[in-house]
Amino acid sequence: MKILVVGGGGREHAIIKKIKLNKNVEKIYALPGNGGIAGDAECVDIGAKDIDKIVAFARDNGIDYAVVAPDDPLVLGCVDALREAGIPAFGPDKKAAVIEGSKVFSKNLMKKYGIPTAGYEVFDDMDKALEYLETAPIPTVIKADGLALGKGVIIASTREEAKDAVKSMMEDKIFGKSGEHIVIEEFLEGPEVSVLSFTDGKTVVPMISSMDHKRAGDNDTGLNTGGMGTVAPNPYYTAEVAKECMDKIFLPTINAMNSEGRTFKGCLYFGLMITKDGPKVIEYNCRFGDPETQVVLPLLESDLLDIMMAVTEGRLSGQEVRFSDKNACCVIMASDGYPVKYEKGYEISIPEDIRDNIYVAGAKLKDGKLLTDGGRVLGCTAVAETLKDAVDKAYAMVDRVHFDNEYFRHDIGRRALEA
Ligand code: AMP
Ligand code: GLY
Repeated sequence: MKILVVGGGGREHAIIKKIKLNKNVEKIYALPGNGGIAGDAECVDIGAKDIDKIVAFARDNGIDYAVVAPDDPLVLGCVDALREAGIPAFGPDKKAAVIEGSKVFSKNLMKKYGIPTAGYEVFDDMDKALEYLETAPIPTVIKADGLALGKGVIIASTREEAKDAVKSMMEDKIFGKSGEHIVIEEFLEGPEVSVLSFTDGKTVVPMISSMDHKRAGDNDTGLNTGGMGTVAPNPYYTAEVAKECMDKIFLPTINAMNSEGRTFKGCLYFGLMITKDGPKVIEYNCRFGDPETQVVLPLLESDLLDIMMAVTEGRLSGQEVRFSDKNACCVIMASDGYPVKYEKGYEISIPEDIRDNIYVAGAKLKDGKLLTDGGRVLGCTAVAETLKDAVDKAYAMVDRVHFDNEYFRHDIGRRALEA
């Protein structure tokens, strides 16, 4: 089989390394991939949002199955376009991807179907939003409606900050159209858990839980990033919490999407907060998380491509999805200054014996050398019997990977170990 994977980060690298294990796979193309992915797939210089070119490439190259990994192409309808061209693809169609593409949609869905989430108000008029903030409980959370590169959420600890956030989104339009509508929501507290799930719209199979570390600095300080590291499983996701999530969140969400005529097939990501009143949804993503995927997939013992195809073909209930009972830790190595301003173009050295455990996010090949080419550069993932060993092994790898200007957090997994 010839497989095409749309995207070019650490998540896609993890997906590709797993798909490669399927014996029926003869060739994998990554669009656009990156310099590190080039060691595992043929990278083609077509951007992940260039739907027309993606479809043309797939048709011209006899692709049997495609995996659309990032949010943008999913929200733009890449899976629909591929399907119309006769190419089956993993991921939700445009109608279902709106669960991530519009926060107003997802909040209204949860309200309509009684799915636990933070209380909220929607605004499309700035003056009304500012007026509401005069008396809203503080801290409060301001969210741009649309996709905003993971930066569309501002937690305001004063009324002034909240008003500035609203103005930046609705007046200065820092997120463009994404900020035309905003959600102002109740601030929740509690440990966060990421649960990725496979669903074909009938069955939902949660994967092993994980914990992201979103802030740039140690001890959860500094700016929000795309994620500086992950561990799996997440100790806060107990069997009891898992059952409650299945009954009150996972199944109700799948059913709600069906009732709305927006059946979701693909990977549905539940961003949860375990509050004192039980688990609540912080956000839905219509795709695999990054860097959650880099700890979840190494623990998957069943065949990923088989599962994906079962999802697309609506036969997930008969498909084996088995995870190991080990632990995984991924430490992201970034360019110093990320997520604001950083230099690129430094040579990366990775010892041969740990290549299989490295997922490259931002690097390019030049004259046979691998050079840094992004904020997040790569992730080192280790799997071990205990979480402590997984964390230690991941940091031992970080010690052996080198590039100028490298930056990483020193406390990935610490909170999970203390739980
Ligand atoms: P998101 O970009 O939607 O993943 O949100 C970024 C982060 O903001 C989340 O991981 C949470 O840590 C935080 N967050 C979002 N919504 C809330 C909320 N209602 N209460 C507290 N924290 C939140
Ligand atoms: N790690 C969070 C995300 O993928 O959105």
